Amino acid sequence: MARPTSRFVCQSCGEAFLRWEGQCRACGEWNSLVETVVRAKPAGPRALRAGVTEGSSPLPLAAIGEADLPRLPTGIGELDRVLGGGLVPGSLILLGGEPGIGKSTLLLQVAAGLGRPVLYATGEESAAQVRLRAGRLGLLETSAGTAIEVLAERDVGRILEVARSMRPALLVVDSIQTATLEELEGAAGSVGQVRESTVRFMEFAKGEGIGVVLVGHVTKDGSIAGPKTMEHLVDAVVGLEGERFAALRLVRATKNRFGSTDEVGVFEMAGSGLREVADPARAFLADHPEAAPGSVVAPTMEGSRPLLVEVQALVSAAGYGTPARKASGIDPNRLGLLVAVLGRRAGVGLASHDVYANLAGGLSVAEPGLDLPLALALASSLKDRPAIGDSVAIGEVGLLGELRGVTGLERRLREAARLGFTTALVPRAGRGTPPIDVAGLRIVEVATLRDAIAVGLGDGPRSRGEAIPAMLG
Ligand code: TYD
Ligand code: MG
Repeated sequence: MARPTSRFVCQSCGEAFLRWEGQCRACGEWNSLVETVVRAKPAGPRALRAGVTEGSSPLPLAAIGEADLPRLPTGIGELDRVLGGGLVPGSLILLGGEPGIGKSTLLLQVAAGLGRPVLYATGEESAAQVRLRAGRLGLLETSAGTAIEVLAERDVGRILEVARSMRPALLVVDSIQTATLEELEGAAGSVGQVRESTVRFMEFAKGEGIGVVLVGHVTKDGSIAGPKTMEHLVDAVVGLEGERFAALRLVRATKNRFGSTDEVGVFEMAGSGLREVADPARAFLADHPEAAPGSVVAPTMEGSRPLLVEVQALVSAAGYGTPARKASGIDPNRLGLLVAVLGRRAGVGLASHDVYANLAGGLSVAEPGLDLPLALALASSLKDRPAIGDSVAIGEVGLLGELRGVTGLERRLREAARLGFTTALVPRAGRGTPPIDVAGLRIVEVATLRDAIAVGLGDGPRSRGEAIPAMLG
């Protein structure tokens, strides 16, 4: 019998077993055994990997030469912006997203945009299916038709063998969950398979100086299926987000060794692939002819880019049982907290109401500044009174019903003014903070949630300088 090439190693105590078992016999931990390849100990000094050699000596910080990262622009501006200027040769990128969101489409467009030879290894679809998509994207008649080589293969060893002889500018692996190593007996997509495959692709990327993009599926709870260690191994984790049945897609890096994780790229899924959105600031605003109760526009910030989003809330009298609290694109804990603060500090009781809240366009935003617009939208829906016309609101809400400032307020307000909004409800600035002045925008500073509701729903004083009655709850 051949010597087994893999062991099942306990992730908790490190003990190795020949067979998978539900519980580690050494430490008693459940479900902790992961299949791992048995590696022969390398003879001699380790080869150069990722610019680090065994036995290297220290250098004074100031004496280290500047790393001049060459970048390959992908030809897609919104993606380059997220990556920090393009693909870095030799880097390993994980592109995550829910099934059907457009990962394969985006990567085929990237492959075409590079204008260099690309190896596209597909384990999910047949070569003919990839061709069909390329036809839809109009790539067959272009130079991409010859520059992109499609390899329908799941075996990691074979993919790397082809890549080593072809030496493309980019290797795309669609997807890491279908990649398998012969040495392991676990099924494709198992923790051991995914981790070992990722290690192989990383060694290839660093060793050959060739960029590799791995496609990774995202599970229901939003994490990339497979081990967390995979995210540690790669240089960048880029996510494609959006609602499958809506057109807008957001590209966001959650980890990036060669750039910031602040930037977002905005795309629209069209009939012929993903299109960059020309004016992302307004992309997430729903259009309706006049102000509707339950809708408030928030000037949010995604990285350095202001995005205006519409917060929508619906409040209705609850039937039996615990009232519903449903949020999409918004942190549900935050929604629960705001419902409590509204009831205790602002006289807007929602305890016996079902509450639904979401962001238009399938966006999801985590910033605390979304509190005030969300609270206003809830109050607006309950009172069935729309927010005052052409207004935006931003600010964090504290447990006492007080409002706190947000970063980058001036940029947000400028963007709101540019898009034609005329009133902005913002937290009162601390003493000593110079007032912000934006042409065409009336900025109303409020101190508490109660005041904000009075002003924002149109039954309070409206401009700066006018006294706001102290209505503290
Ligand atoms: P796909 O790239 O296959 O998603 P993933 O690889 O993330 O699973 O894209 C799937 C969806 O995109 C599919 O439902 C069809 C749609 N689509 C378009 O709307 N326009 C297009 O040009 C293409 C290629 C796909
Ligand atoms: Mg796909």
